[in-house]
Amino acid sequence: MNLLVTGGAGFIGSWYVRLIRRARPADSVVNLDALTYAGNMESLADLRDDAGHVFVKGDIRDTALVRTLIARHQVQAIVNFAAESHVDRSILSASPFIDTNVTGTLSLLEAARAGGVKRFLQVSTDEVYGSLGATGAFEETTPIAPRSPYSASKAAADHLVAAFHHTHGLDAVITRCSNNYGPHQFPEKLIPLMILNAFEGKPLPVYGDGLYVRDWIHVEDHCRAIDLVLRGGRAGEVYNIGAENECPNLDVVRAILRHTDRGEDLIRHVPDRPGHDRRYAMNAAKVRDELGWRPQHTFAAGLAATVDWYRSHPTWWERVRSGAYRDYYEQQYAERLRGVDPSKASPT
Ligand code: NAD
Ligand code: TYD
Repeated sequence: MNLLVTGGAGFIGSWYVRLIRRARPADSVVNLDALTYAGNMESLADLRDDAGHVFVKGDIRDTALVRTLIARHQVQAIVNFAAESHVDRSILSASPFIDTNVTGTLSLLEAARAGGVKRFLQVSTDEVYGSLGATGAFEETTPIAPRSPYSASKAAADHLVAAFHHTHGLDAVITRCSNNYGPHQFPEKLIPLMILNAFEGKPLPVYGDGLYVRDWIHVEDHCRAIDLVLRGGRAGEVYNIGAENECPNLDVVRAILRHTDRGEDLIRHVPDRPGHDRRYAMNAAKVRDELGWRPQHTFAAGLAATVDWYRSHPTWWERVRSGAYRDYYEQQYAERLRGVDPSKASPT
């Protein structure tokens, strides 16, 4: 199969591209990525000489470019990872989220339709379902109820994908996954941010009471599930993906402190994220029962291995943590960390 993978220089996309090239060497990958702050070609360094992986720097909103790529590379399937992906950034400014996540997805759908692409897989998120109370889990039938600009943009994209399936007969599937972690994640998200701050003995900024619950999955398990859905999922269906690893943020942070030999005195409760979703939990029975998917990483082992990866790859994250990221970090945390001992107040 010839695949067009979008956002393949990002965290999850780069894992997916690598998975395909290793596990399915007969498949070729065209990787279209705009290389925003989150795109990092160093995460794909091992594929530099791989003739089965063609990287194209470009924007998914460029429908003409996407159509050209589909024709030139005889693309049979599109897997759309490209997105603005960080909730906190969407609170600071929602427009880029609409531009890429909504308009960009529409552009891909139009190009897929015009180019006769056989299957379109939209990589979505559990956050489109909104927030849970103390019990229960999201099902594929749970009504969409996004609460952040990020999740609203992802929900809009999901609706467009469903609309192109129903209206135009496009063969499309949607995966909705819980929070990912693992090597190569940009250090704005909870786990890598806390790991790097712990390495450096800097404050670990925990939003609110820290009792917000996320359902963690190793990025490799997510990518294996996506690939099963791409090849075996039923057209027009949604597949939830999650590994049943619910954990309050404070417990995640404490585990990271243990793995880095740091004390809990580094924990800083900072003002909460506006509109912060209290709890996510996924029921992934459908992808398990229909497609035989099973997660292979436990959270305990996966988190320890992730800390080890960041410890042994300082060059990767030191290079990431510069430029635009630094500006963003200032904007995001300067206010929150006010009042903290100035010698410990700069987490970067
Ligand atoms: P990421 O931010 O690490 O990577 C996004 C990639 O998309 C980057 O390489 C970026 O350069 C690229 N991109 C952004 N705008 C683009 C555009 N207009 N055109 C082309 N490329 C563009 O994101 P991630 O964490 O790897 O997430 C990938 C996908 O998975 C997203 O769609 C996200 O909504 C979804 N998802 C993420 C998680 C998670 O925990 N990270 C969980 C569920 C679903
Ligand atoms: P994040 O990694 O941003 O993912 P998402 O918001 O998509 O779930 O955040 C995970 C959880 O960690 C979420 O409840 C917010 C919280 N959090 C903090 O407490 N401190 C931080 O510095 C960050 C980035 C997140």
